[in-house]
Amino acid sequence: MSDTASTSIAPLPLAPNAAETSPARTKAFVKSYGCQMNVYDAERMTDLLAGRGYGEAASEDDADLVVLNTCHIREKATDKVYSELGRLARLKSERGAEGRDFRIVVAGCVAQAEGVEVLRRQRAVDLVVGPQSYHRLDELLTRAEAGERIAETDFAVADKFAALRRAPIPRGVTAFVTAQEGCDKFCSFCVVPYTRGAEVSRSVAEIVAEAEALAAAGVREITIIGQNVNAYRGEDENGAPATLPRLLARLSRIEGVTRLRYTTSHPIDMDQELIDAHASLPMLAPFVHLPVQSGSNRVLRAMNRRHDADFYLDIVARLRAARPDIALSSDFIVGFPGETDADFEATLALIRAVGFASSFSFKYSPRPGTPGAERDDQIAEDVKSERLAALQALLEQQRQAFNAATVGRTVETLFEKPGRHGGQIAGKSPYMQAVHASGGPELIGSILPVTIVAAGSNSLAGTIGEPMREGAL
Ligand code: 5AD
Ligand code: SF4
Repeated sequence: MSDTASTSIAPLPLAPNAAETSPARTKAFVKSYGCQMNVYDAERMTDLLAGRGYGEAASEDDADLVVLNTCHIREKATDKVYSELGRLARLKSERGAEGRDFRIVVAGCVAQAEGVEVLRRQRAVDLVVGPQSYHRLDELLTRAEAGERIAETDFAVADKFAALRRAPIPRGVTAFVTAQEGCDKFCSFCVVPYTRGAEVSRSVAEIVAEAEALAAAGVREITIIGQNVNAYRGEDENGAPATLPRLLARLSRIEGVTRLRYTTSHPIDMDQELIDAHASLPMLAPFVHLPVQSGSNRVLRAMNRRHDADFYLDIVARLRAARPDIALSSDFIVGFPGETDADFEATLALIRAVGFASSFSFKYSPRPGTPGAERDDQIAEDVKSERLAALQALLEQQRQAFNAATVGRTVETLFEKPGRHGGQIAGKSPYMQAVHASGGPELIGSILPVTIVAAGSNSLAGTIGEPMREGAL
């Protein structure tokens, strides 16, 4: 995984007379995998492509250009990219036979990690562009259209933030805004520090400008995102480093913004100032995604997580003291090298002690170049599968219990879109639950109290009451 690289390899011949015979290149399809950061990047790439005259295609079949915005976090995610590229290569040759142009761009963390290897492994790919270089998409595409095959994996985060200063095109009443990228933590299982680079924060002014533009265009809920968002240290208006709670306090004053969230946080950066923000900022949603990965101190040490289980439980206790209705979610990895049955039991014990509203859980996937992958005490696949099933059964039980406990309660729901059935409207509770109620599209963008009457396995149903006071959840 090289630090910086811009590689160009021999051009491929274009489809015969492609330029003369192909219809205008009008539509692009950006397909994104993985984390919220990728969702944000995919939207920015869509915006950049719109500036180049590309509309949004509904699928690959409808597109003249496809961007695969890839995820490298687990092996499965990476394998999927190459099989997807095989499919796109066939589509490209069909288009070529019709004399039509079809461009394939690989972006995201696989692009960063594999670079020029993607061009070598799949000849149909026109351009490989890493997550810190895609702000140059326009210029890179111009070169690709001239027949150059480019792998651009430079780490130019500051340039990227500057280039993205342009107001984003809002999509609905909720939006992500990037505050921070990269990671300095080097958990021993994780590729992110290699693919996204060191922690870099945007300035408060830049984030506020983006949030204000979104709010003016109708966005009501903003989620501040970063790989380690609570390690945020962007420059404030006096040139001093700010903190996430101070950034959130500033954002809470933007007219039109009625709900704020942030993700993803690391336990060691979860300081009291941020915990207190949950008491002092009413529009900060009472929901925290705080990955713990394991409940075993031995495994946490081996993972280089820099905290133990008690440290995590203490944060949870302090969050609940600050905001008694706070709900938590986490990420878990089972089958990290050397994990014993007792270690796994400790994870189950931590889950029982906390009680999570929802969570993500994964089998450990050895990633090339990370310390975990070098270990010779890898866990057998069937053991990993068994542990994952047991862990997910417990998490699912907790999720159902959490949803069931909202029946009879009133939850402040931000309505986002029409429901699947006529006369229905769909939104989200402060705790990230999907909520359905009877109502028309005029309610989109409003936060209204909904009394929950039923909890299904994936959503809640309720009836709408009177509007909440200004600034409430
Ligand atoms: N194997 C399995 N899961 C992983 N994650 C990160 N790296 C790996 C890996 N090598 C999980 C962690 C992280 C989430 C985004 O993905 O739980 O929090
Ligand atoms: Fe990966 Fe750990 Fe950094 Fe999260 S904190 S991105 S898991 S290295």
